[in-house]
Amino acid sequence: MSYPVLRNKTYFIRTFGCQMNLHDAERVSGLLDSCGCLEVASPAEADIVVFMTCCVREAADQRLYGQCSSCKSLPASPSGKRVIAVGGCIAQRDGEGLLTNLDNVRVIFGTSSIAHVADLLAQAFEDDERHVLTAEIDEPGATSMPWHRATSYHAWVPIMTGCNNFCSYCIVPYVRGREKSRLFEEIVDEVCGLARVGVREVTLLGQNVNSYGRDSYGSPRFAELLRAVGETGIERIRFTSSHPKDLLPETIDALAEVPQVMPHLHLAVQSGSSRILKLMNRRYSREDYLDLVRRVRERIPDIALTTDIIVGFPGETEEDFEQTLSLAEEALFAQAFTFIYSKRAGTPAAEMPDDTPHEVIQERFDRLVHVIEQTAYDFNQHDLGARVPVLVEGVSKKNARRIQGKSPKNQTVHAPVPEGIDPADLVGRIVDVDVDTARTWYLAGSIVGEAR
Ligand code: SAM
Ligand code: SF4
Ligand code: F3S
Repeated sequence: MSYPVLRNKTYFIRTFGCQMNLHDAERVSGLLDSCGCLEVASPAEADIVVFMTCCVREAADQRLYGQCSSCKSLPASPSGKRVIAVGGCIAQRDGEGLLTNLDNVRVIFGTSSIAHVADLLAQAFEDDERHVLTAEIDEPGATSMPWHRATSYHAWVPIMTGCNNFCSYCIVPYVRGREKSRLFEEIVDEVCGLARVGVREVTLLGQNVNSYGRDSYGSPRFAELLRAVGETGIERIRFTSSHPKDLLPETIDALAEVPQVMPHLHLAVQSGSSRILKLMNRRYSREDYLDLVRRVRERIPDIALTTDIIVGFPGETEEDFEQTLSLAEEALFAQAFTFIYSKRAGTPAAEMPDDTPHEVIQERFDRLVHVIEQTAYDFNQHDLGARVPVLVEGVSKKNARRIQGKSPKNQTVHAPVPEGIDPADLVGRIVDVDVDTARTWYLAGSIVGEAR
């Protein structure tokens, strides 16, 4: 692909939202690199500024306006002309409509038009017009598109796009469309290639990985994919997200039996009240969820279970909320992403009566955070005295002689680096750490033996 007008242009990408957006941003970055552009560290240095947007909650939605208008006060760009582009879920949802309020935006591209972003940017540099593309266009397979990974040791690997679940509060199925699984062989080949170039860990991505393959009759399903990816030579496999209603026994078996699959399961519960779960259209009850947790722990006793919880769904009573608190304690979550319900126009929940005062919801939210802090602390205590293999992700910001990385259970681990070793040399390698400190959000200890 060649666009002379893009050659030597500098670019900056700011990404909001979930891992899907992070990976989409890597694809935009890969495309721009292949056009001869150069990534820079701030919008001020960039000829091209790309915002990868999210609209899952209102706060994320609002941030775009501030970000775009702050570009107006930037100094002139190196080439003398700056093009602002908006991609991701807000772009997909609002398309041309965004142009009305964002007068300095020149390019809008949807979640299915990433392959065309270089084309749109090149046109914007040449003609000063505004260019919008959000229609679903057949893209070349993700494996044949260049992408630029943020690190050399980890890669996001989308296994499917879209979502069919229509949880009543959620905008994602409306913007990302229906579930579409990538070909089994394409995913396995991609992970083989990543392992060959030294990637240690992959995270398989989908809004609900448990329904992988369901859109194509007779295709292998997620458990088979985990087993096949386990044979590629990759050392660590993670995945997200996993809908409780679709977590099949054979997937639990694969989690227990494939050594490369890390003992961490992100299983969004959303609420501990069966009444609210029904209103949310989650299609499982409190009892189903707890039974699933029991079955998972029977096979993998030490698994780290993490979750997403929404507080203040329309009509949530104090009793419903207390059910969420007690479920969190019972499930012993190692971590939880907690959200205050945000009304999304066009979703069924937006039409439900919602009269709980904000102060009540905020107070519930704070109580939930407190319970999660306690369960996370209790969960981490199990590792005091253990030796854990840590994939080193970086050097601590506060202390240049300490590394920070992730345990198999996805806990953050800190450790000082022995004299004579450059901490930067350990990034992307695995070290054993003897844990002597277990706090709410991290473990700490000392490195033993050689890095590998
Ligand atoms: N597909 C994933 C799943 O079901 O586990 C979740 C994807 S969504 C991007 C991430 C989380 O955002 C959800 O699990 C939910 O807790 C939260 N979320 C989605 N819509 C929301 C809303 N309207 N208000 C507050 N939180 C919301
Ligand atoms: Fe949203 Fe539910 Fe789909 Fe997750 S499963 S993306 S919460 S609709
Ligand atoms: Fe946000 Fe889109 Fe992800 S709405 S959470 S970036 S799928």
